[in-house]
Amino acid sequence: MEIRDIDIEIKNTTILTMDKECRIFLNSSLIIDKGYIIEIGESAAIGYKYKAAKVIDAKGKMVMPGLINAHTHAAMTIFRGIADDIPLKEWLFEKVFPLEDRFVKAKTVEIGTKLAIAEMILSGTTTFCDMYFFEDEIAKIVTETGIRAVLSEGVIDFPTPNSKTPDEGLKYTEMLINKWAGNPLVTIGVAVHSPYSCSPELLKKTKQLADKYNVPFNIHLAETKWEIETIQKTFGLTPTQLLNNLGLLSNNVIAAHSVHLTEQDIKLLADNKVGVAHNPQCNMKLASGVAPVCEFLDANIKVGLGTDGVASNNNLNMFDEMNTMALLHKISKNNSTMMDAKMVVKIATNGSAQVLGLQNEIGSIEIGKKADVIIIDLDKPHLIPLYNHYSHIIFSMNGSEVDTVIINGKLVMENRKLLTMDIEKIKMDAIELGTIIGKSL
Ligand code: NI
Repeated sequence: MEIRDIDIEIKNTTILTMDKECRIFLNSSLIIDKGYIIEIGESAAIGYKYKAAKVIDAKGKMVMPGLINAHTHAAMTIFRGIADDIPLKEWLFEKVFPLEDRFVKAKTVEIGTKLAIAEMILSGTTTFCDMYFFEDEIAKIVTETGIRAVLSEGVIDFPTPNSKTPDEGLKYTEMLINKWAGNPLVTIGVAVHSPYSCSPELLKKTKQLADKYNVPFNIHLAETKWEIETIQKTFGLTPTQLLNNLGLLSNNVIAAHSVHLTEQDIKLLADNKVGVAHNPQCNMKLASGVAPVCEFLDANIKVGLGTDGVASNNNLNMFDEMNTMALLHKISKNNSTMMDAKMVVKIATNGSAQVLGLQNEIGSIEIGKKADVIIIDLDKPHLIPLYNHYSHIIFSMNGSEVDTVIINGKLVMENRKLLTMDIEKIKMDAIELGTIIGKSL
């Protein structure tokens, strides 16, 4: 029999597939070639068929799909810890927007995004969905560093650091959609900030652009009680009803937060196949509220998990976020059986993939899917003994156990060493920028 040359074999390991049946393979190999997963099976039974350019013996470790951060503002790492312990309205209008106005430029976005990508890869995130400014620069960094991303230039009813008018922002977005079409790592989406910061006309125009190219449409929805009151006062509707009346709800919508929804609002999201990006830590930190995620799941709404930006989190660690998600819904329902560990892992992998419209490419370890996988070192005091992998992922791990990361079939981290980034230079640049921002406060 002919031996086939392939790129990577990860062997002698436990593989959590997160496929439909959530199959777990023991003593097995994952075969990766040209960016794709081509076979999964017992190492002894399939290993002999392949000659890998790179063999990773992952005995004592486990392999799972990379985590997918369904909503963030990556470059905001430069504002980490700058405005804590205040409500969202004050946080956004008195802190974040003025800071962005002064400091967000192509160069600072580059520094912040590199720092963010380093942090994400080190904690097992292989895809992130970004809403920020200068997304063309961000796309370049994404392709250089080898992470996967859905990138959307934020549009709002006032000048942004990258566009004088919303129309300019939309033109820029359309340019990005065409420029990055077909890129294996970058998907360009469209982003409009929120129902309270954008006019109905702008909301509609933005959605039309997303629909024209059939790309993801990002929006912050029903995040705070203040937003509900503001929209109610102006339109006599809930924010969700407003979007529905404008014809904005459909299956390419990624509704971040979605905290304050009525039963009718939830039905509108379900009927229109809207996806929700849940941000539990940010919602807790800004005391925005508890999103009705159990109700979303009951209504068969697509739910993914995201950290939001680090100015309101204050990290990009999806292990941390998964832990919070599980605990939050147990206590808020006063029911310890809610949001079990396996469910949360599913949400942070294939749930997020579905919300981003990438469910056919990523979110599980299956033959034919893109090879976005992480290898976790189980040889740690806090992971012993091991009875249930999902339990450890949600309740015991903190992200530092992620040992090796493969994205699109390429190694981007091995034995915790980042292979595509100069981490010392990235840290130095971010410290320098932080000093300048700090002095100006
Ligand atoms: Ni956000």
